[in-house]
Amino acid sequence: MSFQIEPTSAPLGAFVTGLDLTTISETEVGELYQAFLDHGVLIFRGQTFDASQMLALSDLFGETGLHPIETLRHTQVPKLIVLAANNGEPVADDDPTADTRIGTIPWHTDLIYTEASNHGALLRAVTIPKEEGQTGWIDTCRVYRKLPSEIKTRIQGLQIVHSYALTHSKQSMVGGSPNLFPDVVHPLVYVHPENDLPVLNISPSSAKEIIGLPADEAEELLEYLIDFACREDEAYVHEWQPDDVVLWDNWRTIHRAYGHLKRYPRLMHRTTLCSELKMGQWVEQ
Ligand SMILES: [Fe+2]
Repeated sequence: MSFQIEPTSAPLGAFVTGLDLTTISETEVGELYQAFLDHGVLIFRGQTFDASQMLALSDLFGETGLHPIETLRHTQVPKLIVLAANNGEPVADDDPTADTRIGTIPWHTDLIYTEASNHGALLRAVTIPKEEGQTGWIDTCRVYRKLPSEIKTRIQGLQIVHSYALTHSKQSMVGGSPNLFPDVVHPLVYVHPENDLPVLNISPSSAKEIIGLPADEAEELLEYLIDFACREDEAYVHEWQPDDVVLWDNWRTIHRAYGHLKRYPRLMHRTTLCSELKMGQWVEQ
């Protein structure tokens, strides 16, 4: 192998070094894809490229698609979305809101509020704040594996309702109106198509209810599963540096943005790797 892979000290993720992403070979793409499956999150530092090159790079890892929320799309390269709280514009240091925390996004799986969460994504730091602004990931294959066996038995065959309206109510950067998508029913556990491991399909930001159980029992179970999944000591938390790029497997992870102070700008670009795994069924409304 022409490059190095060094696992993070967290339960998931690996740093990839010794590689210029603008000139990778077909063999290296194959090796990187295997590392993507093995580690869930790949971190590359010191990668200088523009929006078009970022899309070309994403295309090497799978079919890229348009994000369904048009207002998030990059104007010149629409298959990229732009993530920026307060439109990426900082306020002055003496502004009374300068120390307000913005850009916080709770734990979630991208596009789980549709029929098919995306397979993966590439995220690039365009502008990073002077402090904070981290992104964290948790391995939901590992979360499932660590569940007590009686819980694994109990949740077998259950379904979960994921709600865009609920996600929309919890963060400002998601875009669109709260009613843009109806609720969607997903299996609570599914098998990852490429590593054959069960995944807890929890996405706390959009998890509205578990169906197939009495209401009070379902509510208690959902709360338990969210608490079990969202343990910060299970997370890889990325401290962004200029020219960082992160690729992650969205089928087996949840992620969150920790936010930053409004006095600092933060702007990210993200691509969407399409999914052939269409698990969700729209709820008629
Ligand atoms: Fe996300």
